[in-house]
Amino acid sequence: MKLENVVPWGRNLQEYKEMRLFDDADKYKKILGCGDGPASVNKRLSKVGVDITSIDPIYQFTEEQIRQRIEETSSIVSEQLRLNSNDFVWKNMKNVEELISLRLDAMREFLNDYEIGKEQGRYQHQELPKLNFKDDEFDLAWSSHFLFLYSEHFDEEFHKQAIAEMLRVAKEVRVFPLLDLQNRKSKHLGAILKYLEKNNYRYEIIQSDYEFQKGAKELIRIWKSI
Ligand SMILES: C[S@@+](CC[C@H](N)C(=O)[O-])C[C@H]1O[C@@H](n2cnc3c(N)ncnc32)[C@H](O)[C@@H]1O
Repeated sequence: MKLENVVPWGRNLQEYKEMRLFDDADKYKKILGCGDGPASVNKRLSKVGVDITSIDPIYQFTEEQIRQRIEETSSIVSEQLRLNSNDFVWKNMKNVEELISLRLDAMREFLNDYEIGKEQGRYQHQELPKLNFKDDEFDLAWSSHFLFLYSEHFDEEFHKQAIAEMLRVAKEVRVFPLLDLQNRKSKHLGAILKYLEKNNYRYEIIQSDYEFQKGAKELIRIWKSI
């Protein structure tokens, strides 16, 4: 991963809750966030004692490099959002300005926590589809806005391997959303569901309370036991 290709973009704990990736009932679980990037969820949850580790390829960069990259890219992202504003639901966030300010707040919070979190092992430079953790080391592993969303960049095999790896290290996996960047149901979803059924994984697709990208309001929960 090259820094010039990274567009840092991070959500906050409230959004993870609305997506139904995290619920207060999960607070005693050992959690692995896959692709949490510059989201503030790790900072917020670890502050209240939740055992959470996040992995992401951007954690190979320093705080200063990520900060600079946020500064370089936020005006480009704002412009893109303005141009494509019809693709989004302006309900919780009223307009692009409010959205950008929410994202920048979350990323600032992440940056302030990043170096200490790295020292504590809460932010680890690892990437799917291969994780350096033991079998069943976590109770819950999630992906927010990575798997399925980038279906044009990552193929079906990558999705299978990534989900199988998350299920190796955690008892339950949750992924949001199930749509790709063009707001279409991910072209890999059908194959992944077949793969889960064939390998006796149990899953359910449920509605979240979150919809920003139009139509992206479903979450999949997967368990390895029948
Ligand atoms: C759109 S961001 C989502 C960030 C955060 N999860 C959120 O919802 O706010 C997608 C993230 O996936 C990360 N990513 C890219 N390739 C990855 C891989 N192979 N394994 C894990 N994460 C990856 C990116 O670095 C980026 O931080």
